[in-house]
Amino acid sequence: MTRTVLRGRVLSFLREPLGIDDHESYRYLQDGAVVIESGRIVQVEDFAPAHADGAEVIDHRPHLIMAGFIDLHLHYVQSQIMAAYAGSLLEWLNTYTFIEEQKFSQQGHAGAVATAFYDELIRHGTTTAVAYCSSHPASVDAYFAEAERRNMLMVGGKVMMDRNAPEALCDTAQSGYDDSKALIARWHGRGRSLYAISPRFAITSTPAQMEASRALAAEHPDVYVQTHLSENDEEIRTSMQLYPDSPDYTGIYEDYELLGPRTLMGHSIHLNHRETAVMAETGTVAVFCPTSNLFLGSGLFDRERLVKHGVRVGIATDIGGGTSFSMLRTLDEGYKVLQLRGQRLNPFTSFFMATLGNARALSVEGTIGAVAPGNTADLVVLDAGATPAMALRQRTLGSLAEELFLLQTMGDDRSVAEVYVAGARAKSTLGGL
Ligand code: GUN
Ligand code: ZN
Repeated sequence: MTRTVLRGRVLSFLREPLGIDDHESYRYLQDGAVVIESGRIVQVEDFAPAHADGAEVIDHRPHLIMAGFIDLHLHYVQSQIMAAYAGSLLEWLNTYTFIEEQKFSQQGHAGAVATAFYDELIRHGTTTAVAYCSSHPASVDAYFAEAERRNMLMVGGKVMMDRNAPEALCDTAQSGYDDSKALIARWHGRGRSLYAISPRFAITSTPAQMEASRALAAEHPDVYVQTHLSENDEEIRTSMQLYPDSPDYTGIYEDYELLGPRTLMGHSIHLNHRETAVMAETGTVAVFCPTSNLFLGSGLFDRERLVKHGVRVGIATDIGGGTSFSMLRTLDEGYKVLQLRGQRLNPFTSFFMATLGNARALSVEGTIGAVAPGNTADLVVLDAGATPAMALRQRTLGSLAEELFLLQTMGDDRSVAEVYVAGARAKSTLGGL
């Protein structure tokens, strides 16, 4: 059995930090050893010379070893329309997104984009993501085939949409159901792949398709559900016109029994009191997408209010409405969104959210999200002095909290010194795949 030991400073969360002084919420080793066997973490402890016996030691000092980042919501098929000059959500969808996603009917396109997409995830330190594919089943096959090749834990699904979009992108309630069912059978639980039933949002799904989504979710209780909720005012108005019998936007998904602990609701910005209560009661996850929400002018996520009412919250890039693959950039923009809300996100909570918090949101705690025995060795190695400006600031750092805050405020892919997927080097070997 091969044994690898990563030496470096190690940070891993034990629970959600209650504040910047909550040092009980994490484990930090100044000179740690992460012992990996067959892709799994078997020990995390202070480094000792004996660790080198019969093991390859990779010395990452003075960098920081953490759990790989988890991105809870993005669209891999939108990798080539990031930075599209559009106004708000519906214009952006109609002008760029629905045009771009049609390209995935072309032979070879999905595979080429998937390869580039995974390279970018790895370069930015993201080892798990939850993605929307296009409405073409082949886009899902390309997505999971590439995940399998790289041995990554990835969640995703075929977008279902049967109205209010170009003909070429639309499925039907029946074909969306049939295709999703076949894809679940092919991919869910194969290797590390996990499926998400993905009705795009209420505007692009007829009641018949929502009914089909309900049936799929009921038939596959261990599969995820993902959709979009309450991102933009015009979207909310249109949704309520299309579903006039539902009490509010969340109520539409509730009426089709699509809420629950395995459901991820992208955006969830403008929720009323009833919606917040239903999200909390059902254990549905609200996914904060700060770079996208600022870019599309959608609104300011109200984290504090949701958390206070017991809603589970995750964080994500929302590529290609989002403007960076980097979870560090995402945490930075998240901090700024919350500043505008008069809320303060401390750096421990930020890094918790991008690792153990998002793992909990996916109900995969114990598998990923922590540098702890039993977890798969999906790891990121971070360098807080990666650029001249960061190195200058680094010299004045007084605490771990300050280092994390520097990483999230000024860091990006350049701060990702190395990435491990199931114990194998993934960043420095890019291109050699
Ligand atoms: N709502 C429905 N589809 C999308 C999408 O692709 N991106 C975003 N940001 N919101 C959506
Ligand atoms: Zn989205």
